[in-house]
Amino acid sequence: MKVGIDAIGLAVPPTYLELAELARARAVAPEKYTEGLGTVRMSVPLADEDTVTLSVRAAGQALASAGVDAKQIGLCIVGTETAVDHSKPVSSYVQGLIGLPSHCRVFEAKHACYGGTAGLQTALDWIRSGSAAGRKALVICADIARYGLKTPGEPTQGAGAVALLVSESPRLVSFETGRVGTWSSDVHDFWRPLYSKDAVVDGHYSVTCYLQAVEGALADYRKKVPAPRSGRLTDSFAAIAYHVPYGKMARKAHRQLRALDGDAEPDESFERQVAAGLTLPSQVGNIYTGSLYLSLASLLALRQDKLDGKQVALFSYGSGCCAELFDGTVEPGAQERVRSSGILELLEQRRKLEVPDYEAVFEAREDMDQRPARATTDSGPLRYLGVQHHRRYYMSPKRQG
Ligand code: CAA
Repeated sequence: MKVGIDAIGLAVPPTYLELAELARARAVAPEKYTEGLGTVRMSVPLADEDTVTLSVRAAGQALASAGVDAKQIGLCIVGTETAVDHSKPVSSYVQGLIGLPSHCRVFEAKHACYGGTAGLQTALDWIRSGSAAGRKALVICADIARYGLKTPGEPTQGAGAVALLVSESPRLVSFETGRVGTWSSDVHDFWRPLYSKDAVVDGHYSVTCYLQAVEGALADYRKKVPAPRSGRLTDSFAAIAYHVPYGKMARKAHRQLRALDGDAEPDESFERQVAAGLTLPSQVGNIYTGSLYLSLASLLALRQDKLDGKQVALFSYGSGCCAELFDGTVEPGAQERVRSSGILELLEQRRKLEVPDYEAVFEAREDMDQRPARATTDSGPLRYLGVQHHRRYYMSPKRQG
């Protein structure tokens, strides 16, 4: 049975910041952000958007592009590290706002940026096991990355959601059982204490942990997956998508992966295998759980050569940490499907914010979970209305309240 990703949906806030302008405002050379980190723009969420609204919009796009009705979903997992409640999962709001069936299993998965991959692996196994009984799964990776104004992490923020429709006979990427290498380790590289809206990070150490995880996951992958009959393992992948907190991190990860695979010129394959996957992330910034899958969407949409039937590797990293290296096969016509899904156009429809506007909306979001939300004109028909009597309310074209 072939199982995998049948459709990808994307949601980003309607507003973004140019990182060159942020750099000037912070008295930093613009090239540090645009070249040194490899991010050109970052998405800025407005005061009436949250992880729920992003999740619902991305899921709606995935279902629409696949021509699938919400009633066909039997499992909905939201991977997020920026949930809206300590108990009620984002997936419950999604269930109501999209109209998922009552007999649908819904829950939230948390492990920093790995939470979406945890959801994807669970969904694949749910279908392979037969529990799905013909139904499909919706895995939504949604986050708002927030470090604080004027911190080193500030240029590595972003916001967005990627929804993956997972099914039998997938039309984008299929995955075989067991082709996964896993690595986990108890480290304090990046975390967010219960009392804080902003992440805490040991920035340079987090880069080290990510690179150690590349090595650990590769070693486990080699144990589990038969080596190719000839040539280097990493040459058997037509493309590689990495978790992209910022583009340079993916470049470092690729160098590490190729060097560990015995490549004396590990950067030479970067343009060929990785670059197309970094274009969309460079326009959105870090979206934590979704950033690996944004990279996958980017490479499917933007690679000029045909990937039909070819292998793509994915490297997922979640601080704390858990990482996985796994591979899939690109299904015929996948690139055309992603190109025609409207993902690329979505980024062109955004409005640029000036730095003072970004700072104002950043501060306005600080206590947004404790009061009615400030309505904006950009957010569209689905919006977060705020909290009253400890309950969150949403306005949606389908349902109010
Ligand atoms: N022109 C071009 N490049 C320049 C430059 C200039 N004028 N000035 C500096 N640079 C380069 C530097 O050489 C450096 O590149 P290399 O890494 O190749 O040497 C790059 O720009 C960044 O410079 P610094 O390392 O000096 O930057 P920094 O100290 O301000 O911090 C950071 C960078 C650690 C990534 C920080 O932004 C941060 O803490 N970000 C959040 C943590 C993060 O994203 N970690 C990634 C791994 S963890 C993970 O992946 C999980 C997750 O999603 C968070």
